Amino acid sequence: MVKKNTKDKIRSVKGMHDMFMERMLYHERIEREARRVAEYYGFSPIRTPHLEPEELFTTSLGETSEVIEKQMYTFSTRGGTRVAMRPEGTAGALRAYMENGLQSQAQPARLFYSGAFFRHENPQAGRTREFWQSGIESIGDAGPVHDALTIRVLISILEAVGLKDSVVHINNIGDKVCRAQYMKELTAYYRKRQQQLCPDCKKRLKDNPLRLLDCKVYECVELRKGAPQIIDHLSEDCKKRFREVIEFLDGMDINYRMDPYLVRGLDYYTNTVFEIFPGEEESEDEEKEGDEKKQKASISALGGGGRYDGLAKMLFRKDIPAVGGALGIDRVALEMKRKNIKPRSEPAPKVFLIQMGAKAKGLSFVLLEDLRKAGIVNAHDLAGDSLTAQLRKANDLEVPFSLIIGQKEAIDKQAILRDMKTGTQELVSFDKIPTTIKMKLRQL
Ligand code: HAM
Repeated sequence: MVKKNTKDKIRSVKGMHDMFMERMLYHERIEREARRVAEYYGFSPIRTPHLEPEELFTTSLGETSEVIEKQMYTFSTRGGTRVAMRPEGTAGALRAYMENGLQSQAQPARLFYSGAFFRHENPQAGRTREFWQSGIESIGDAGPVHDALTIRVLISILEAVGLKDSVVHINNIGDKVCRAQYMKELTAYYRKRQQQLCPDCKKRLKDNPLRLLDCKVYECVELRKGAPQIIDHLSEDCKKRFREVIEFLDGMDINYRMDPYLVRGLDYYTNTVFEIFPGEEESEDEEKEGDEKKQKASISALGGGGRYDGLAKMLFRKDIPAVGGALGIDRVALEMKRKNIKPRSEPAPKVFLIQMGAKAKGLSFVLLEDLRKAGIVNAHDLAGDSLTAQLRKANDLEVPFSLIIGQKEAIDKQAILRDMKTGTQELVSFDKIPTTIKMKLRQL
């Protein structure tokens, strides 16, 4: 049998992407701002493994949740241990908190993470099988102030990357007690209308009726309009928490909308749940470009989270209140792009280094290091040889100065410093270049 040459067919796994250049810049900027804001609010970074014991998720996310039913990457190791590629970060953060004795330190433990997660979903715009999240968790304190702080931090991160008009959809799904009564009514309501439900929802009615509220199929969305609302079944305590969280949001001027049917896809939530959506405002280009509109429709939530006071009980038989949330970095990047927000607001270069000839090229390496160490943002074209072409680049970048080194200057260890606006030039010896440029920049 002829062996097939598979070399040129090896491609990245479906739904998983290489990241470089612009996409990389977007991710880096979002992660940088996320960490900056999170640290400002007292969250310290944590990294947990990409592989976790499978039961960490099967025990916590809910057997009938989409993630467990359809989306987990699981396998047995050579030693026979069942593991899962983490589909989300909350369960891992809580495991790390328990395993490393963080409960004996100041509470709540405030953790920030950023990294890749894996769900076997149908790839589409804003939905991939490997995706990135930046998230925060406050573990060990039940105060509603932490619910509000979680939302504050995520919104501030979005603002820091230029997304100023995001909307928080918020609900309170009660605790175990008030939810039990609600579930009875909800089930009764849908049972009477079973025939009108989509096939998935017929199944949900048996397994996990709360998820009926999450369905995006038109008929189910219409049916939902008459469904009982959890808010009418909340205990006094849960109502009070909801009120307090909302009051905090009012005080912070956060754009939110009560969403009585928001339930979230993971089973560990109690009380506060929220999702963050891009603002409605349309970019100028969008009016022209139908494709982008389609993309917007499919991007959906930029982030989500909520309180998960029961998760530690499910996993470790301990009562540890906690709340958190995460932003989908890929979706935030798409939204930034859609709104024409550049991935980084880098300082513009102040000087362009022009070199001609082998000796000048060699010395340019030394000069570039001097400029870097002096913190002078510069641009250059080390591969270029022609003065005209390099000057054109300097002009295009609108740098105030250029440094020119030809064969003669290289021998004399000098460079021509050219004021790009006036065209005046002067000779500066190599060792004085950084201080001279700094002085001239101050005078601009
Ligand atoms: P989640 O809503 O499943 O929550 O995910 C949070 C965000 O991650 C979503 O809003 C979305 O932006 C992004 N995301 C989710 N799946 C994908 C995907 N397949 N492709 C691209 N982006 C995606 C959680 O994961 C919870 N652990 C959040 C949390 C933290 N709750 C409490 N603490």
